[in-house]
Amino acid sequence: MIVAPSVLSADFANLERDVKMINDSNAEWLHIDIMDGVFVPNISFGLPVTQAIAKHCTKVMDVHLMIVQPDQYISAFKEAGAQILTVHYEACTHLHRTIQKIKAEGMKAGVALNPHTPVGVLEDVLQDLDLVLVMSVNPGFGGQTFIPRTIEKVKTLKRMILDCGSQTLIEIDGGVNADNAKTLKDAGADVVVAGNFVFKHNDPLEAIESIFRI
Ligand code: DX5
Ligand code: ZN
Repeated sequence: MIVAPSVLSADFANLERDVKMINDSNAEWLHIDIMDGVFVPNISFGLPVTQAIAKHCTKVMDVHLMIVQPDQYISAFKEAGAQILTVHYEACTHLHRTIQKIKAEGMKAGVALNPHTPVGVLEDVLQDLDLVLVMSVNPGFGGQTFIPRTIEKVKTLKRMILDCGSQTLIEIDGGVNADNAKTLKDAGADVVVAGNFVFKHNDPLEAIESIFRI
């Protein structure tokens, strides 16, 4: 499984230090949460901070847009260093077009689903997607409790992916720790995001390793 530590729980006053710490870990991706205060009830950071992270980050930049009208910012996030760009299903009226735009910019395309959104809504775009991000908390904040129903969603989504023969990865975001990562892996998860579990741990590198040991 790929581990993607979430910068949202890092120390923003020591971002360079924390990004370099992740560079030194076995985590393959760095998860970057963009919140606009409209799609979600919180504001995190935007393009300049993403650019600043990119200057130091040697991992895959996995950018999760929790914003309305994400189409307007696709090329800007490419320029800021995003390698994977994920938009929310709930924020896109013309999702197919948005996915094609992301890929045309040379990035991997992901779609995120809120906890209330069934995985079946992606049936007709699944083959175009590099990634489906299943939210296991309501987006907006780090440190929330994992919603158990996510496991069933991951199993259903895995079946859909296998049935259509696509290579789409399943990423789980919210409340992930070393205790629930095994169940997620068994259900079909390929990538887990971990914010609080990594950055609030007294030994973040050990926290990452503990997920690899499951
Ligand atoms: C929540 C974000 C998550 C968050 C996860 O809206 O999308 O990526 O950083 O944080 P934890 O792992 O603390 O739940
Ligand atoms: Zn996220």
